[in-house]
Amino acid sequence: MSLLRELSVLVGDAFSEVGAERRLGEVSVSQRPDLAQFQCNGAMAAAKTLGRPPRDIASDVARIVSTDARMVGVEVAGPGFLNLHVTDEVLAQWMTKTAADDLLGLHRAQPPRSIIVDYGGPNVAKDLHVGHLRPHVIGESIKRMHLVVGHDARGDVHLGDFGLPMGQLLAILEDADPDLPYFDEAFAGPYPEVSPVTVEDLQRLYPLASARSKTEPSFQAKAQQATVELQAGRPGYVALWEHFRAVTIESLKVIYQRLGVHFELWLGEASTGERLAPLVELLLDRGVAVQSDGAIVIHVTTDEDKKELPPLMLRNSRGGSTYATTDLATIQERVDVFEAEDIIYVVDLRQSLHFQQLFRAARLGGIAGDNVTLTHAGNGTVNGPDGKPFKTRDGDLPRLSELLDVTVDLARSRLDENQLALELGASEREDVVRMVGMAALKYGELSNHRTTNYSFDIERFTQLQGKTGPYLQYVAVRAQSIIDKAATKDIVAGDFLAPSDAKERALVLEIAAWPEIVDRAIETLSPNVIAEYSYELANAFNHFYDSCHIMRENDPARQQSWLALVRLTRAVLVQALDLLTIEVPERM
Ligand code: ARG
Repeated sequence: MSLLRELSVLVGDAFSEVGAERRLGEVSVSQRPDLAQFQCNGAMAAAKTLGRPPRDIASDVARIVSTDARMVGVEVAGPGFLNLHVTDEVLAQWMTKTAADDLLGLHRAQPPRSIIVDYGGPNVAKDLHVGHLRPHVIGESIKRMHLVVGHDARGDVHLGDFGLPMGQLLAILEDADPDLPYFDEAFAGPYPEVSPVTVEDLQRLYPLASARSKTEPSFQAKAQQATVELQAGRPGYVALWEHFRAVTIESLKVIYQRLGVHFELWLGEASTGERLAPLVELLLDRGVAVQSDGAIVIHVTTDEDKKELPPLMLRNSRGGSTYATTDLATIQERVDVFEAEDIIYVVDLRQSLHFQQLFRAARLGGIAGDNVTLTHAGNGTVNGPDGKPFKTRDGDLPRLSELLDVTVDLARSRLDENQLALELGASEREDVVRMVGMAALKYGELSNHRTTNYSFDIERFTQLQGKTGPYLQYVAVRAQSIIDKAATKDIVAGDFLAPSDAKERALVLEIAAWPEIVDRAIETLSPNVIAEYSYELANAFNHFYDSCHIMRENDPARQQSWLALVRLTRAVLVQALDLLTIEVPERM
């Protein structure tokens, strides 16, 4: 149980003693650290039910709570706020407990849930661009925060490998090279093992094919036909399409390696192939899906909707399945095969309507029961430093791989400017450069709430001072170097003593707040809560270090206690940064 939970029990008991609801005793970290360490605002709500002035209730609660040996000061302020302070001994015990815990005090998931996080959503034949940074990094972070507290969380890349774009690629290739065996219906196989196209070919061809579809009706018809035949399993098409997937996945893995993004599941839209027809049958049987102008749809609007939602298209008039059909079948698979209890989609907010329709259809169709939660944790867009949509000079979206290159180069110059990591060997240094570059990018990303649009300002993100990823890495490295330096003087971490200095106390309180920070980040699927906390923790650490001179301290017990606090701070900071997918170098 975290310190905040312990205090909430204490204050909750007191509320119940005065006849109010126990839950009103919830204690949080004080908004005004100059006035109190912790606070509880429950008296205001209790006043309504008890019909007594909130200050009176707060005073009664304060009288009860102050008899507890853990408390040093319990005051009533303003209309009935409770300001709470614990003894320094409690803080010291708390640090001891936190340092001994392999989760550093985080609340274990009770019970652990089976969770699938759907993020990234890259598409076959399309290169990743700057916009893809968001769902990848946010999704990875959300997955990690569930994993760390013990949930069974898995990331699924949900590859866009289905639908008309695939038919368009088949059509343009057939046009260019009709003699390939994939297009010969009489060919009995086996098909060549080596792909006739590279991922670069696909990335070049896809925009051409998509443009031709718009202007050439005959090409469009051909692409549509190829799509239907691919979905029906025409062997040559399937074999060629498998190459499309394979070369795309290979190139994705290179960039994911750089980004530190990892997927447990490499499924995609097309993985649901076998499920599609039976699913449509099932939904027709259940009367949830209906025929409509040669198509099959699910009506998802309810009487409560002010504006009608368009029906979800399960099968278009050409007999083709859609993005919605594969997503619905994917929910079915996740529930039936992976026994998912929570499915979280980290996908652009511009797809909100799609997910609204999808979730309703899944409920109506009995695909996801009440025991399954479906959540669209939508993300906003990335703007350029000028606040306008981020485009290259040609009007394209910047490619993600190029963005990573630029960031890493800038990280290298920053380290040079600051004369950091100079004594490292070339390969270790390059590794540090990469970590710093990625930290710049990721912290720039995750320090914004996922729904806000933010400006991609790589100059600022790569700074070593201020609210940036590299700064946080630097603080963690500095903490390590203090530990290393102490070791050379035979100073080791010892028992935690009661804090003796205001800056030390403030740091301890910051660490005590960590479990609730992670709870809140999980509850709201908001990595920025952790990003904000990391920065505050780093600052609290710097203040502590400025005011408590470890190496010069004469009392060995105090010195060892401070060193223990340095170690604990570093551990929490590293854990927090890991949840933000940021690595911390050993040295820099
Ligand atoms: N590939 C899709 C796109 O580029 C995103 C997929 C998101 N995930 C999902 N289950 N729909 O728009």
